[in-house]
Amino acid sequence: MTGANKGIGRAVAGRLAELGMTVVVGARDPEKGAEAVAEINAAGGTAHPIGLDVTDQRGVSAAAEQIADRFGRLDVLVNNAGIAGDLAAQAPGSAHLDGLRAVFETNLFGVVTVTEAMLPLLRRSAAARIVNVSSGTASMGWTTDATHYLSRMPGSLGYPVSKAALNMLTVQYAKALSREGILVNAVAPGACDTDFAKGLPFQLTRTAAEGAAIVVRLATLGRECPTGGFFDDNGRLPW
Ligand SMILES: NC(=O)c1ccc[n+]([C@@H]2O[C@H](COP(=O)([O-])OP(=O)(O)OC[C@H]3O[C@@H](n4cnc5c(N)ncnc54)[C@H](OP(=O)(O)O)[C@@H]3O)[C@@H](O)[C@H]2O)c1
Repeated sequence: MTGANKGIGRAVAGRLAELGMTVVVGARDPEKGAEAVAEINAAGGTAHPIGLDVTDQRGVSAAAEQIADRFGRLDVLVNNAGIAGDLAAQAPGSAHLDGLRAVFETNLFGVVTVTEAMLPLLRRSAAARIVNVSSGTASMGWTTDATHYLSRMPGSLGYPVSKAALNMLTVQYAKALSREGILVNAVAPGACDTDFAKGLPFQLTRTAAEGAAIVVRLATLGRECPTGGFFDDNGRLPW
């Protein structure tokens, strides 16, 4: 799991451990990762920390090697790490490229970096799954539907665009990996009151645990698990 030390990722890690899975808690700050691992293990789970900054390609490769040495395979990859970024830098008309690139570096290229590094380990699993944590803001259907609240959000060239690209990345990986039985889906956790929401001009209402539920569902579904889809608690979302 990436970004598993807090927020939705931490809630997913805790829940997967409760379900009996051995969880590798990826965190870019080793101390925060160790704290999350200690909490999960104190609650009766089995978790292991791993240093993982999704923007650091060498560090991600090293993490994959450590997982290979210690566990030999990976059954589930949850690409959860994500940032809202500097909102002012993303506004149409006053956007600046450095701010946009930073968002894409984590939310899109970070997912590619981690997925490419972990694929050899996923290929060793009998039933591998990849869950990409996307966002309802990525939905063009919702964003262009005048009756949906997302259509009234201020325009942004960064975060929603990065997550829409993540959705297409999900479809492309799903297509490429379906013959190998590796299932790849994107999920929208809903508007959760985590540190992610700190810079927003409004309050988000769901808990991290509520947001984690759809991630856990797609990570643990059996053979009936779809692939190449975009889901929230209520089912498929419009692209
Ligand atoms: N909260 C919402 O309303 C909402 C809605 C839709 C989608 N999402 C998505 O849900 C995911 C989790 O968000 P959250 O709400 O749980 O936010 P959060 O509380 O801010 O947690 C984000 C996590 O990602 C990690 N992270 C950020 N950049 C990273 C990097 N370069 N390498 C590795 N880890 C990195 C953070 O690590 P640090 O602790 O080191 O910063 C943290 O663990 C994100 O992908 C977000 O886009 C959130």
